[in-house]
Amino acid sequence: MNKKITHKSVMTEEVLSSLNLETGKTYIDATVGAGGHSKAMLERCPDIKLIAIDQDESAISIASNNLKKFSQSVSFYKTNFANIEQILRSNEIKEVNGILFDLGTSQMQLNDHARGFSFKEKDPLDMRMNQSQEITAEKILNTFSEYELFKIISQYGEERYSKKIARAIVNRRPLNNTKDLTNIILSIYSKNKSKIHPATKTFQAIRIAVNKETEVLTEALNKSLKLLKKPGGRLVVISFHSIEDRIVKTIFNKESAACICTKELPICVCNHVATIKIINKKIIKPSIKEIHNNPSSRSARLRIAEIINKRKAS
Ligand SMILES: C[S@@+](CC[C@H](N)C(=O)[O-])C[C@H]1O[C@@H](n2cnc3c(N)ncnc32)[C@H](O)[C@@H]1O
Repeated sequence: MNKKITHKSVMTEEVLSSLNLETGKTYIDATVGAGGHSKAMLERCPDIKLIAIDQDESAISIASNNLKKFSQSVSFYKTNFANIEQILRSNEIKEVNGILFDLGTSQMQLNDHARGFSFKEKDPLDMRMNQSQEITAEKILNTFSEYELFKIISQYGEERYSKKIARAIVNRRPLNNTKDLTNIILSIYSKNKSKIHPATKTFQAIRIAVNKETEVLTEALNKSLKLLKKPGGRLVVISFHSIEDRIVKTIFNKESAACICTKELPICVCNHVATIKIINKKIIKPSIKEIHNNPSSRSARLRIAEIINKRKAS
């Protein structure tokens, strides 16, 4: 791994102001990565307690090194953020004041050839964020049925040639490296123009499937709403593509919608987790200056919700 490559955090100032940091309060950075957002939070408000999570072993070691100065205030957890409830329970913490999710992959992961996230080189078909999990991109590409591959590539990649790509993968098996996958896609796109690299969407789709990203995000956001302080706890989410942003938007819209059983019943039969207020009606995007300084920030989208009340689901 190239040790010099680090991650430039996106929309740091916007993240800091949306979390409403207060001395003595507890916050969670659910995707600590290189620790950039965490560091900014601790520099802005040194007396907070910070719980830093990442499922990537190397991210945890890089972040703990970068946050050495704040070791009294931070505790690290190498686990999936879907386990957020267990982490708090094991620390006998009932609620926290803010939770940050900065989704997707870090620059360190993208630039580490052994991880296979990038379509630019000839790398192993891995794509696991958690290096100890069993399922890899290689397993999906070489063993899943043509129909399963088609579903993954169309749903998670919104790829218009998903059917052709799925068929070509099955016909070309075994795929041995990321170049094999990129070449299949390039052969299908040979006569068709694409604004982005033709492999972008299929690589995104396989990565989402390998890491079960849609399932764990839905689970973690719903759990987060239960764990935030009422009233005033803040949930801050940065997403990088429409699949994850749609999940955030759907949950925020559902929980901020009026509940039909508010007064009549002691429990909520509409399965609301919480009553929330959406803080930014308009999605927050990086400034032109930020995109100029850090082109990878260009697709970032920030959403903020605040807890008003909690609900007991039926
Ligand atoms: C965009 S990076 C975060 C960068 C970080 N905010 C910073 O400023 O350095 C996303 C990180 O989230 C982690 N991640 C993604 N999904 C995760 C999950 N389900 N559970 C735990 N960590 C996850 C990745 O391993 C990666 O390190």
